[in-house]
Amino acid sequence: MDAVSNPYSPGAGARPPALVGRDELIDAMDVSLQRLLKGRNGRSQMLTGRRGVGKTVMLNEFEILAESRGFFHEHLEVSEDGDLALRLAAAVRRVLLAMDARKRIGERVTRALGVLKAFSLCLPNGPEIYIDVDAVFGPADSGHLATDLSGLFVELGEVARDHGTGVLLTIDELHYVSRLVLDALVTGLHRAAQLQLPIIVAGAGLPSLATLTGEAKSYAQRVFTFPIVGSLAPSQAREALTVPAADDGVHWDEGALDEVLRLTDGYPYFLQEFAKQAWNIAAGPDRITEQDVRWSLPIATAELDDGFFRVRTGRTTDAERMYLRAIAECGPGPARSGEVAKLLGKASTALGPTRDSVIKKALCYSPRYGEVDFTVPMFDAFMKRWIPDFTVSSETYSREPVIVETL
Ligand SMILES: Nc1ncnc2c1ncn2[C@@H]1O[C@H](COP(=O)(O)OP(=O)(O)O)[C@@H](O)[C@H]1O
Ligand SMILES: [Mg+2]
Repeated sequence: MDAVSNPYSPGAGARPPALVGRDELIDAMDVSLQRLLKGRNGRSQMLTGRRGVGKTVMLNEFEILAESRGFFHEHLEVSEDGDLALRLAAAVRRVLLAMDARKRIGERVTRALGVLKAFSLCLPNGPEIYIDVDAVFGPADSGHLATDLSGLFVELGEVARDHGTGVLLTIDELHYVSRLVLDALVTGLHRAAQLQLPIIVAGAGLPSLATLTGEAKSYAQRVFTFPIVGSLAPSQAREALTVPAADDGVHWDEGALDEVLRLTDGYPYFLQEFAKQAWNIAAGPDRITEQDVRWSLPIATAELDDGFFRVRTGRTTDAERMYLRAIAECGPGPARSGEVAKLLGKASTALGPTRDSVIKKALCYSPRYGEVDFTVPMFDAFMKRWIPDFTVSSETYSREPVIVETL
């Protein structure tokens, strides 16, 4: 059928044509935003889940919601360097300048910018942020990040409150930050909440983020809820496929829906990719059949391999790839580190550094002590497509993996 009118949207952060199954999260955020504007507490959200489940999409949704409620908003994305403080400082600067531009605040913003300047001067690369006011020392420049973030959030929160607005910060890929920095963020928000200031954060990260916050969780739970974002239930997954098609007068056969659900397990990214390819391949004019889904399978798989799976493996070493391949050999779900080591003919301890590096690269996480799992759903099947032969010997481990480019 006509690719131009294809409604489906595989892609990182791409808004789905039908956003299903997330009403509770959106409603909770809306309640928080409205409460904050009334000088009450509103809880922030820390979304965790594997790749491709729709976390970034939710952050974008929160942004739209916040703007409709008259909030100011900034989006931050943490990268592998884990630096949050500098990015936060830059975001706060943008928010203050935007508030000033829209509300003509003047002196109070100049002071807040001064506090921000003193805050940023304490950071390693802080002087990079250009702030054209005199630094105001005292509230946020002790050099202790938790204290200083508290001081900064109070400044920002007061300016927002005094001008009848609030601030939403969305922070993506939050699993890259260290415990220390995450604790500082929680402390800063906690301080703002104590003073009933209208600052709210929506964070998103891989499941390791939940473990990272685990130890400080009881404290963090005062300011954050921790929703887990996962695959869609069958009825929701069907809706995600049928609603956008129906808008165009296109009908999905029952068998076609069943097949897509079976192949994707209800994971949002996969749903969008399979639906897109089935649509393109269908003869139509207004129907997608089970056979269409079958025919589109190799194309959808190849698209996922290139656009979703392989991008994650770009910078892996041979040893890391074989480690990932061995996890895949253990089948779906978490693998025991000991079993992975056995498959590679090595001692667990010898594989420690490899395990740590695939975790640091966010390809894997440790759901429980002694276990390791992929952060990407269905990654085991991908690894098997990529490196079909896995011979159990230490010799295999040191040789170049066979890279199969076609399915
Ligand atoms: N609730 C949903 N219903 C249908 N599709 C969704 C939903 N949430 C996300 N998607 C789709 O899933 C894909 C991945 O979303 P994204 O937000 O990038 O995931 P994550 O940030 O968790 O890796 C996108 O193609 C998006 O259109
Ligand atoms: Mg994302």
